[in-house]
Amino acid sequence: MDKVCIQGGTSLNGEVVVSGAKNACMAMMAASLLTDEVCILRNVPQLRDVDFFIQLLQTLGVEIEALEPHTWKLQAKQVVYEAPYDLVRKMRASVCVMGALIGRLRRASLPLPGGCIIGNRPIDLHLKGFQKLGCSVSMEAGIVQISADHLQGNSVFLGGRFGSTVTGTANLLMAAVCAPGTTTIESAACEPEIVDLCQLLQQMGADIEGIGSPTLKIVGKKSLHGFDYTVVGDRIEAGTFLLAGLVTQGNVKVVGCPPQFLSALLHVLESIHAEISYHPSVPSIEVFPCLERLIPFEITTLPFPGFPTDLQAQMCVLGICIPGISLITERIYPQRFMHLAELQRLGAHILLEDSTAILQGGSALSGSEVMASDLRASAALYLAGLAAEGTTVIHRVYHVDRGYEAFDQKLRNVGAKIQRVEDH
Ligand code: EPZ
Repeated sequence: MDKVCIQGGTSLNGEVVVSGAKNACMAMMAASLLTDEVCILRNVPQLRDVDFFIQLLQTLGVEIEALEPHTWKLQAKQVVYEAPYDLVRKMRASVCVMGALIGRLRRASLPLPGGCIIGNRPIDLHLKGFQKLGCSVSMEAGIVQISADHLQGNSVFLGGRFGSTVTGTANLLMAAVCAPGTTTIESAACEPEIVDLCQLLQQMGADIEGIGSPTLKIVGKKSLHGFDYTVVGDRIEAGTFLLAGLVTQGNVKVVGCPPQFLSALLHVLESIHAEISYHPSVPSIEVFPCLERLIPFEITTLPFPGFPTDLQAQMCVLGICIPGISLITERIYPQRFMHLAELQRLGAHILLEDSTAILQGGSALSGSEVMASDLRASAALYLAGLAAEGTTVIHRVYHVDRGYEAFDQKLRNVGAKIQRVEDH
């Protein structure tokens, strides 16, 4: 297990090229289950979660090989419908194979994904959606058994009490593209990762209308072709680096993420007087030193195009660097505040009222030993360590390897003083 030592107080300056989107590439790899033809996926990030997902697909029968570091060839000639517990338990995104298995085999058998530190991770909306398409769903000893004698298109409302579901939308799409008849998905997720998946499925021959809107209309096809597709840039990685630039009073340019994927973040930053420029054609987004003139903010996390929950922890760090009271309300995962206690160890003054963090910003942060707890909380601790005076040691940094490719090196490339060492 490793730890990271960060020497804070240095401004970050330079250019970062984001990797492919973690939360797009796994559903896209799962789409290879829908055809026996060759599929090529490019700009796949090198992440632990992707490694686990590849292992899972291989146990399902998908032949997978790396053509080059970020390009994978996948072919599902023969597919089995049962996924092993020891792989599914490691990662929530494993549920993304359900829809594709139903689309291909009309059958799926998967252990119920565990919860995680950010909160409960149910899949009730996924299962209700499958039932609307004619599947029978049962649970035996923690294993979800799904089968459909006659898969049939239908109208499905996918919204829950927290809004839309990203992987739920991905699952229903992949079941519906091969379901006879027409399926309408209401309250579908509109995240850019879902748009990217829809475009990949269209390349396979799927008939999908309403892409990017909360209402998707799918006319099922008997079979689909392979694909050769490039994963979109990771907007959460992009937002993380932009916030790293702001909290260190640096000048950071992020390349590879269309600005419109971060419209909620950019809107907030501009409203608090941050100095930003962006070029949709490249695409690139750039922040400049401006911390001393920023004003406090109030945000709520919401489904896209609202403020993304995956940038909530990182935004807390900006809030504690701005004099005054900033408020962040978490509406997607109300318990997603494990990072607050660790930020307090660095000297942050924070109160938590229900699912609202009250950030009293402006007091200097000073380095300390802290513990990473989940992917985005880990990234927030890196940002806080970079902004703090002195040395910050972050334990259990393996969490960050799940979702950020070469995070330490990309930060070092823009001037961060970071060392990763064995944690005895
Ligand atoms: C995806 O998770 C992302 N993961 C998450 O990113 C992200 O935080 C989340 O979407 C929200 O944007 C992947 O895409 C692999 P949801 P997902 O289903 O699909 C509730 C990261 O850090 N819900 O959109 O699992 C659920 O509890 C990760 O990269 C139900 O109630 O999230 C949550 O409160 C963390 N029933 C809300 O909906 C369901 O059947 C949104 O969940 C499904 C979800």
